[in-house]
Amino acid sequence: MTRSTTWHPESFINLTDYREVTEVLRRGREFVLEGTKAESDEFVHDTLISIDGRPHLERRRALMKMLTPSQPWGAEGHLLDEVFDDNLRRIRETVPPVDGAHHFDLIDFCRRIVWRVTAAFVGIDGIDSDEKVSWFLELAAPVLNTLVVEYAPEAERDAIVLRGREAREQIRREMFLPSIERRRALLRQAAESGGSTEDLPADLLMSMLADAGDGDTDLEPIFREAVALLAASVNNPVSQAAWSLDDLLDWLEAHPEGHAHTSEREFLNLAVKESIRLHRSSRPYLVRIATADTVLESTGRAVPAGSWVASWVGAANRDPAVFGADSDSFDPYRAPLDPKVATFGVGFGIGPHSCLGRPMLLWEQGGEEAQGIQTKLLRFMLRSGIRKDPGGVHELIGVEGGRRFSRYDVTLPAENTSS
Ligand code: HEM
Repeated sequence: MTRSTTWHPESFINLTDYREVTEVLRRGREFVLEGTKAESDEFVHDTLISIDGRPHLERRRALMKMLTPSQPWGAEGHLLDEVFDDNLRRIRETVPPVDGAHHFDLIDFCRRIVWRVTAAFVGIDGIDSDEKVSWFLELAAPVLNTLVVEYAPEAERDAIVLRGREAREQIRREMFLPSIERRRALLRQAAESGGSTEDLPADLLMSMLADAGDGDTDLEPIFREAVALLAASVNNPVSQAAWSLDDLLDWLEAHPEGHAHTSEREFLNLAVKESIRLHRSSRPYLVRIATADTVLESTGRAVPAGSWVASWVGAANRDPAVFGADSDSFDPYRAPLDPKVATFGVGFGIGPHSCLGRPMLLWEQGGEEAQGIQTKLLRFMLRSGIRKDPGGVHELIGVEGGRRFSRYDVTLPAENTSS
């Protein structure tokens, strides 16, 4: 079913106060996602990011397996380590050093790493070389634009949808269906040999196919969920990798004693969380619809039934009443005034639709070696000597409340000159 709703942001109730934002996101019965999708509904209808209540909970549960730390992309796995090294090698081989260092764009570098890892946990096979990543990026980028099309200027929306539809069909034919066939064969083999499906990779496609059981499974819901997961997972880690390096390098200049901790998981996690609090880099606000006349307990604000509420994540995360008078500055050791508030604030959302990927990004259990994607990215960048290029371009794009670097030039010491 396709909706024809159009957004009217001028009628939205805009929330920027941390307490109000978190209350709305937490109260998933009174403030729902269902019905908020307009042009993007054709692409995300009935996926995790557009449903509520019990069906939503069950869908989340089905995807949990993907988050097991022992998976190659999980905190105990080594996929990110390998892909990072591959990309470092590629830079060394293809970008000739100038004045003792390779100069390159960190955004493109991290994008190639994150997309490869993402392809693995979604279950898109064969994205295992730089050429294949380029192909994947080229096709997936227009599809991802369709999923946030409501945030684009009205005049651009039709073109975004048309381009997205074409690319989506190509992804379905060339990537999704072959990956599904391979998984069906693996499931058949496991059934025939009496083996367990527990040993099969727990990517999204495999988890959903196994969940659907035998027979002629309708593949459309699986395809929709895969595309929605792609949209939720690829852009933020890339933007946040650049923000965390940028924030931490500046902070270390003023706090040289911090260098002693830059390989420690706990310190790196703190730094990553503080950058996530400070920088909302994608959709500037999260939208919900009030299902009933509601009064917010935190402030007494009355919200009439049917209101569209926009929760501004970035503003809430800089609320001085929660994060202190210096809430605009980066401090990895920041302690929110209310100890119950997470140091990353509402950076991963909160409540029933909070970020499913968080344990994959930031892992805080087990030993030092078990680390999330975001933590490892920061550690590997620092360890390999990647630094902001003082003579390079560092360009910010996006709208107020959702800013990210489109390009962030860095240097990497050439091997024969590094010491
Ligand atoms: C630093 C990186 C990331 C940030 C800052 C981030 C942030 C967020 C936020 C704020 C939401 C809440 C959206 C809402 O309430 O409407 C969310 C939801 C979500 N995120 Fe992330 N995310 C990140 C990376 C990832 C990754 C790597 C995955 C991969 C599994 C992922 C999967 C999801 C999913 C599936 C949802 C929707 C959950 C639901 O509706 O139940 N995210 N994320």
